[in-house]
Amino acid sequence: MWATNLKVVAIVLGTLALYTLIANKIPQVESEVPQTLTLGANVTPEQLVAAGEKVFNGIGGCTTCHGLGTRAPNLLTDEKGTGAIGVRCGKREAGKTCKQYLYESLDQPTAYIVAGYQPIMPVMTKQLSPQQVWAVIAFLESQGGTVDVSASDIPATSPTSPTSAGGAGGAGGAAFAGGSTDPKAIIQAAGCLACHKLDGQGQVIAPDLTHVGSRRSAESIRRKILDPASSTAKGYERLAGIMPKAFGTMMNAAQLEALVQYLAAHK
Ligand code: HEC
Ligand code: HEC
Repeated sequence: MWATNLKVVAIVLGTLALYTLIANKIPQVESEVPQTLTLGANVTPEQLVAAGEKVFNGIGGCTTCHGLGTRAPNLLTDEKGTGAIGVRCGKREAGKTCKQYLYESLDQPTAYIVAGYQPIMPVMTKQLSPQQVWAVIAFLESQGGTVDVSASDIPATSPTSPTSAGGAGGAGGAAFAGGSTDPKAIIQAAGCLACHKLDGQGQVIAPDLTHVGSRRSAESIRRKILDPASSTAKGYERLAGIMPKAFGTMMNAAQLEALVQYLAAHK
């Protein structure tokens, strides 16, 4: 009798724990609390690495491609016997240090394309603030290499634009696209055209958005931007999961609305 009761209690507790776990995982899109970290002149390598890890796993969207084994090279684990990224970064291009190579990977991903992969990596310096970019570089260096990113690499920020390395705070709000509500500036800052074509410009990895308003309502476009996993474009099932999830936390509500209305008007 006691044994049965204990079993029931254990099952109930176990189920509760599981639901708590799931509940904590689900609302990430809405409830990602902006983690602001000021990278001042005396930022330590440890602080940079910690901030970079958050960007990598969160707003950077890196894990939608990296670490799955097929779509993009492994960064945190060995890649085809060449070691983790911190080990191989200094050996990729003759004359380029690890730090230079990593910056180039994020700023001009097509300058050096790792053999065996498609050039689908978006230009990350368009989507992330310089602080976030340098924090990610420090984090990547820490994967088997030496962290030599320092405060002097990070461009000084004006006192009016607080630095946010970990989340949406400073990078969203006023800083994103300079606070502009011009949809073209927002598209430029978000890097949509690194994957999509629009009015004849951009790449063809993802669906051409020139007539997206004829197949999706404003509501559907808004949902797609805020939660890319909510639906998948027909014929692009193989690329599901590639569209970055962080746009909703990067732009403010007015910018999102301007972007949505602009796209919805593309009939
Ligand atoms: C849409 C998919 C995608 C996303 C998102 C993405 N990458 Fe990549 N990345 C790739 C692919 C594919 C390659 C290999 C082809 C190339 O070199 O461009 C690559 C290459 C790299 C390399 C060079 C690896 C090597 O072995 O030399 C680094 C470093 C890198 N990515 C870092 C990042 C970081 C950091 C992020 C997030 C801020 C990120 N990537 C987001 C697809 C992606
Ligand atoms: C790293 C590549 C990438 C970037 C950057 C990207 N997308 Fe996408 N997007 C995709 C892919 C791949 C699909 C098709 C698969 C799917 O539906 O998830 C898609 C689908 C869409 C769709 C649905 C299209 C349809 O025909 O139904 C919309 C709308 C969209 N993206 C808008 C945007 C906007 C707006 C931005 C910039 C704020 C953006 N995307 C940035 C890769 C990207």
